[in-house]
Amino acid sequence: MQSIHEIVPMRALVSDWRRSGLRIGLVPSMGNLHAGHLALVRRALAGADRVVVSIFVNPLQFSAGEDLAAYPRTPDEDAEALRSAGCHCLFAPSEAEVYPQGRERQTLIEVPGLCNVLCGASRPGHFQGVATVVAKLFNIVQPDMAVFGEKDFQQLMVIQRMTAELCFPIEIVGVPIVREPDGLAMSSRNGYLSADERAAAPALYGTLRRLAERLRAGDAPSDAEWDAARELSAAGFKPDYVSVRRRADLAPAVVGDRALVILAAAWLGKARLIDNLDVDLPDEPA
Ligand code: PAJ
Repeated sequence: MQSIHEIVPMRALVSDWRRSGLRIGLVPSMGNLHAGHLALVRRALAGADRVVVSIFVNPLQFSAGEDLAAYPRTPDEDAEALRSAGCHCLFAPSEAEVYPQGRERQTLIEVPGLCNVLCGASRPGHFQGVATVVAKLFNIVQPDMAVFGEKDFQQLMVIQRMTAELCFPIEIVGVPIVREPDGLAMSSRNGYLSADERAAAPALYGTLRRLAERLRAGDAPSDAEWDAARELSAAGFKPDYVSVRRRADLAPAVVGDRALVILAAAWLGKARLIDNLDVDLPDEPA
């Protein structure tokens, strides 16, 4: 596996590959890799001849007071995990390489209607930061396909819309959430949990599953959302939101919508956990 830290040699490597007719896959990440990330790498290897994994803790997507400085960085373990997984190239640029004019002077990408709702409402600027760094990575690596996790469902939607609307010739592939045996969605931020919080954390997924059952039983989304947030508070979380949305565009679900996704974000101690669950309601009998 090659390790590259600068844009010029990264571009040179991918143009060699491209000249040889090889299909290139990209997996953007912020490192501290776990089995969820490695599932994305496997998916990329299944669909491309050469796979680049980027590791860059993107300061543009953290607002002041968030965990940029504390975000876990494990470069040696990450490189070893990627080598064993069969990744061809690790691209790990510095902040000066990605934002040479400084963060404040960077051109930003905004996806209207998607950047400022749900997680974007609680984290102003977050999805602009994500969309901007991913667009830069797309232009640097010029992949044929790029792989993202459904764990960050809203992020996946933002990337899909940006890719379509900015005409990037890139296939965006989503990979289902990888969970711990007790149901907790794997996340680099799970490391912030104390032993007691870790024991309580699977309640987030449990709450989503019960909410899904209620929707399937015909309950109104607003009642079920409200009860789910109360259930999370009772389990020791500070809920940020629990919301039933239309899977196609993340608009609030209305009666008659069938393909839904329940999204939730909740604080547990120092960790802000997110999770989501698809729900397909049966068609009304004619
Ligand atoms: P990061 O949190 O490192 O996640 C990198 C990718 O791994 C994302 O596509 C995320 O959805 C996916 N992922 C994380 N946990 C997962 C799990 N349990 N199951 C499946 N996929 C999972 O997301 C980011 O980095 C950044 O915002 C980034 C896109 C790299 C832009 O900076």
